[in-house]
Amino acid sequence: MLIVISQSDGGNSMNTMQLKRCALLLATLLATAGASAAGNVQDGRQKAQMCQTCHGVDGMASMPGTPNLAGQVEMYTAMQLSAFKAGERNNAQMSVVAQSLTPQDIEDLAAYYAAIEITVGKAPAP
Ligand code: HEC
Repeated sequence: MLIVISQSDGGNSMNTMQLKRCALLLATLLATAGASAAGNVQDGRQKAQMCQTCHGVDGMASMPGTPNLAGQVEMYTAMQLSAFKAGERNNAQMSVVAQSLTPQDIEDLAAYYAAIEITVGKAPAP
């Protein structure tokens, strides 16, 4: 599979470093998806027990200041967990939690949260 990410000279909101990191992460995720099966929802469900105190059993956060994970785009969740693990994103709680996660754990957790169905209601009228 060939992926070309181009960057125009001006006006791009991502800097080159971010773009490289993003491309690298994408390549890693794709390689992982190719080598093993991608995330396993049932395994992710089991592993999510260690996250439920803060993020809720169903991915709806039960603690103030904690984001909902239910229905989140799989790749986004995986990217954030990898960033916490790599120290590129820092948070007192998440940086500790992410240390113990293997790449497979990250895939499984991301698959589980993405598999939770959510319904979006109407946005407030302008
Ligand atoms: C002790 C509470 C706690 C536990 C346990 C916890 N988290 Fe978090 N999580 C947080 C907080 C607080 C944030 C917000 C971090 C920030 O502000 O950067 C967060 C952020 C995240 C994010 C980023 C969400 C986004 O929208 O960017 C992901 C993904 C995540 N957690 C996944 C997990 C997973 C998976 C587990 C279990 C393996 C877990 N968390 C366990 C408290 C927790």
